[in-house]
Amino acid sequence: MTTKFKFPNNFWWGSATSGPQSEGRFNKLHRSVFDYWYDIDPEAFFDKVGPDVASNFYNSYKEDIAMIKDIGLNSVRTSIQWTRLIKDLETGEPDEDGVRFYNDIIDEFIKNNIVPVINLHHFDLPVELYDKYGGWESKHVIDLFVKFAETAFKLFGDRVKYWTTFNEPMVVVEGEYLYKFHYPLISDGKKAIQVLYNINLASSKAIQKFKKMGYNNNGGQIGIILNLTPSYPRSQDEEDAKASEFADDFFNNSFLSPAVKGEFPESLVKILKDDNVIWESTDEELQIIRENIIDFLGVNYYQPRRVKAKEFLYDNSRGWMPDKYFDNYDMPGKRINPYRGWEIYPECMYDIAINIKNNYGNIPWYISENGMGVEGEEKYINSDGIIEDDYRIDFYKEHLEYLYKGIEEGSNCFGYHTWTPIDCWSWTNAYKNRYGFIAVNLKTQKKTIKKSGRWIKEVSKNNGF
Ligand code: BG6
Repeated sequence: MTTKFKFPNNFWWGSATSGPQSEGRFNKLHRSVFDYWYDIDPEAFFDKVGPDVASNFYNSYKEDIAMIKDIGLNSVRTSIQWTRLIKDLETGEPDEDGVRFYNDIIDEFIKNNIVPVINLHHFDLPVELYDKYGGWESKHVIDLFVKFAETAFKLFGDRVKYWTTFNEPMVVVEGEYLYKFHYPLISDGKKAIQVLYNINLASSKAIQKFKKMGYNNNGGQIGIILNLTPSYPRSQDEEDAKASEFADDFFNNSFLSPAVKGEFPESLVKILKDDNVIWESTDEELQIIRENIIDFLGVNYYQPRRVKAKEFLYDNSRGWMPDKYFDNYDMPGKRINPYRGWEIYPECMYDIAINIKNNYGNIPWYISENGMGVEGEEKYINSDGIIEDDYRIDFYKEHLEYLYKGIEEGSNCFGYHTWTPIDCWSWTNAYKNRYGFIAVNLKTQKKTIKKSGRWIKEVSKNNGF
């Protein structure tokens, strides 16, 4: 078989998961906001399935990593749960079993020649810090996060070379503080903007700590994982274009620009100032953000955002919301993944690649998540008991072709991670939609490689397809 799309040498072929979505709650000392939310309102989760067992990675990590190796992945991202690693949230003192567990999995990945990419925050704030301080609304919590980060760097920085501070911080802003899809289900634009700023600052402070501790000189690199949902205006009409620019500034560039360039987008800052909702900041903090930019960027890409100018005057009784400046546009004829309700638009991979190349200094970056969640995959099981997920293979191929085009034109992309190696728990959809190369039977915890798992093995071996 010839390889038509050959990717750069040492390309990462991998996949991503997170601690709270794979490990299960076994032996944790603290509850995250999601653990707590499930405890008080299991109805909020599909089939009332919570994060208690997840994919049992806490207990079966050896077998799981062996399977991941078997499907040819050369790199994997997971996250360290703050609620597992840290015993004393105020001092950052670690818990013995947490240390043992993360040492074990990191060593197991390395032993199997799989590069571990370790993320620190994947939506899983300890709920105590929300109750006591208001979570990400509080600057004290930023400092506690840095203590957690410091403990993690100290414990694992000798072996982990790729770190990321946050996964999809915009989802915290949107889900927890604007559109009420994650606990604490608040809709308050002013608070949302402070949280947006605080998480940017938390990321920069963790990067500052990493550099001060000297891990950069040791071959270590630190980045952030952002969910980019590039905006496409309904038309080239000036009003549509303006709405789309605002949406891009708010949902993408408000993290991308500080992370890569050390500064917030000027146009966004102006609007927030004019509207009297700008965050509270100090010169010293802004300097930390300016001086502590990322080494590499992870981009989670699932869907674009279609935008149009506002149809009706904004209803001010909602308080300030980004929706004051744009409407989402339901584009006729768009392709949709019906299970997740997300548009499928692979061309966007190319647009992201070129945007990073032209507007973000061509920083080294990789696709840190891309995937297709499908419900009811049992119906695709063949007589050998294998799920034939050709739709997923086609989805990946299409996205990779556009990524390839961007790389050919000089974008500095060094890898492609899918979501996710092994079917894992999702925030409120639980196990409704499956994304993995490896299926999990929830009743037996038996894991079986899907057809896409065999496919990625070949792609990884040939460095392309
Ligand atoms: C990303 C997250 O938003 O998408 C993952 O980083 C998440 O944590 C994934 O699971 C898929 O989304 P969902 O909501 O279908 O699980």
